[in-house]
Amino acid sequence: MVKLIIAANWKMNKTRKEAASLIKKVRPILNNKQREVVIFPPFTCLDVVSKLLKGKSAKFGAQNMHYETKGPYTGEISVDMLKEVGCSYVLIGHSERRINCNENDEDVNRKIRTAVENEFTPILCIGENLDERESERTDAILEEQIRNGLNGLTKDKVLKVVIAYEPIWAIGTGRSATTEQASHAHSEIRKLLTNMYDRDVAQKMRILYGGSVTSENISSLLRGKGIDGFLVGGASLKPDEFIKIVKAKPKVVR
Ligand code: PGA
Repeated sequence: MVKLIIAANWKMNKTRKEAASLIKKVRPILNNKQREVVIFPPFTCLDVVSKLLKGKSAKFGAQNMHYETKGPYTGEISVDMLKEVGCSYVLIGHSERRINCNENDEDVNRKIRTAVENEFTPILCIGENLDERESERTDAILEEQIRNGLNGLTKDKVLKVVIAYEPIWAIGTGRSATTEQASHAHSEIRKLLTNMYDRDVAQKMRILYGGSVTSENISSLLRGKGIDGFLVGGASLKPDEFIKIVKAKPKVVR
């Protein structure tokens, strides 16, 4: 059985000391048999998290990396540097980077390729903003981001990529997509992947939902068809909340 992924995006939060304290507090879910827990701390905490996760099934990754493997890129981090600290995952194209750091689809595609070529599991983040949703351009935006983001990847390479559907209007706003909205987007993404590759690839690729996931809405979101896990921001910084999210079961409807 493929485990659901529950990923914690800490963003620009936690000093090394605070990171160690948070990892210790979420210890009960670091060896979870039903879920693949992946922690994304800031770069400066990667080695702290690495040490604390030794012997646990939980994995960790970086929130970004450069597409070049070395060179004159002041302030950037390469895939080899991440490998050295034991990372296996990397977030690519998060909307906060697309918006604040002007990352475009071409940068995102180059990063995805570098990650895949280096045996990393990249999580390709995509999603529409409110204006795009209200003007019914969601499917077109997702298609553009996926086609560009996965450009040039063969079938066996693309299977290493995880997609995270994160509507921008749902990130950090407390307004999660409904289970139906998330399922609908995931099913459109799978149709597109069938078109670009084939049905088998589309079924095997894992697609996560992210955007204001909490212990309150997780049980309902878990019922969503085709949702293979979650990328959790704010709620992953609260240990009790994150533990509840990892342990949550789908809501039973009577
Ligand atoms: P949020 O962030 O859970 O705080 O909305 C999700 C994300 O940005 O990955």
